[in-house]
Formats: sequence, C-alpha cells, structure tokens
Amino acid sequence: MNIVLFGPPGAGKGTQSALLVSQKKMHHISTGDLFRSHIKSKTPLGLRAKEYLDSGRLMPDDVTLSMVKEALAMLHGEGVVLDGFPRNVAQADALETLGREVGFDVEKAVFFDVPEAVLVGRLSGRWTCRNCGAVYHEVNTPPKVAGVCDRCQSKDLYQRADDSLESIKTRLKIYQETTAPLRDYYQARGRLAAVDGQGPTEQVYDRLCRVLWEKK
Ligand code: AP5
Repeated sequence: MNIVLFGPPGAGKGTQSALLVSQKKMHHISTGDLFRSHIKSKTPLGLRAKEYLDSGRLMPDDVTLSMVKEALAMLHGEGVVLDGFPRNVAQADALETLGREVGFDVEKAVFFDVPEAVLVGRLSGRWTCRNCGAVYHEVNTPPKVAGVCDRCQSKDLYQRADDSLESIKTRLKIYQETTAPLRDYYQARGRLAAVDGQGPTEQVYDRLCRVLWEKK
C-alpha cells in the first residue's frame, strides 16, 4: 500500500513515518528530509533550498517534483510513505499524472489533526539527531540520556532553523493556505482518512494502523 501523510507542521508525520518504516517495513520519502540532506551536502539544490526552508516557505513545485520522481524511481515498488508531499493541489495533480506514468497508486491520504497551540509546543521543543535523523521532544519524548541520541549514541542533537517562532508562524500560514485544501482534494477522490494526532505517539500510531488496515 502506498500512502500520503499530510497535516500541519509538527503534526507528527515524521514520527509516524518512522514507526511505519520500523514496524511495517515501508519505504519513506520525506521531501523535507531530502531537502535537508541536500543542504547538509551543500549541493547546488541544497544552496537554493536553504533560504526557503529556514524561512518556512515552500520550494518551487518543479524542483520538488523532479526530486520526488527520482526518489520514487530508486524504490521500484509498493509500500511507500510519502511524508510532506504533495503539499498543494498542483503537486497532488502532478503525483496523479506521474502515478499513471510509472504505475504508482496512492491508496490513502492520511490527514493528522492537531490544534495549533499543540503544534507550536511540539516544534519549539523538537530536537533532531544530525547523524541519524531520529526525532525527540525535550518534554514529550526526550532521549534516555540528555543530549545523546538513543538510536546511534551521537551527541549531535540540534534544533531546526525553521523551528524558530517566526518561521513556525509562516509555515502554519502557508499550511492553511496551500496544504489544507488537500483534505477536499482526497475526500472528493474517496481516499481521505483523518487521524486524531493528539495523545501519546503509540496511541496515534494505533489509530493510524486502524484507518489503514482495518476493514470497515
Ligand atoms: P518538512 O520537514 O516536511 O516539515 P513540516 O511539514 O513542517 O513538518 P515537520 O517535519 O516540522 O513536522 P512533522 O509533522 O514531521 O512532525 P514530527 O514528527 O517531527 O518540510 C520542511 C520544509 O521543506 C518546508 O517548510 C518547505 O520549505 C520544504 N518542503 C518540504 N516538502 C515540500 C514540498 N512538497 N513542496 C515544497 N516545499 C517542501 O513531530 C514534531 C515534534 O513533535 C517532535 O519533537 C516529536 O517528537 C513531537 N511529537 C510527534 N508526535 C507526538 C505526539 N503524539 N505527542 C507528543 N509529541 C509528539
């Protein structure tokens, strides 16, 4: 099954994707992670992307699309979680077209519902491991030893530049204007599933698995 996870910044898309990868052996494509990896490697795309990501603005669609196309071509298969893509109706249309070309079907698009006040608390307390990408929250899900990644033991945990209050505000506004319409888009195509994204991570994961795999 191929799925799209969408929702506002901080809704838990990355956290839930990591669980689907470890427990259901799904493949994960996160456009945000792909851009961050280009920035880290200082590729020409990364140099262009940094300004967009740090300020919370969306990268141009053509750049994002060709990156996704390349990532999908490398996976050759089923069981893909698209995290943070599509992010507007134009990208969703482009994904439908690409899907027809390469035989890639999105079966469900899952929307994570989390109130804005909770999102701001989550983003401002997020720490990410620079080495392996594991994500923590300083209050909700801290690493076992402060400042040390549980997964790879690296001491290089950092806070994302776009998790500043100013950038969070921009991201939330852009989300409402350009990404939230995807709910109607996938509803009209009979593929929308909504999950309450509040509560402990494992509870959210149970809800997600129920909408994806339980027969109605
Ligand atoms: P991206 O990396 O996709 O950022 P985002 O959509 O803003 O989402 P986040 O990664 O901030 O949040 P998340 O929902 O994954 O939450 P997480 O699981 O980390 O994109 C970054 C940028 O790249 C964009 O702004 C744009 O510039 C560019 N970009 C990306 N895709 C693009 C596209 N398609 N087109 C154009 N531009 C694009 O959780 C957040 C925190 O909450 C963590 O600390 C976590 O530990 C905690 N948490 C998670 N779940 C719970 C829970 N249940 N309870 C308590 N705490 C929780």
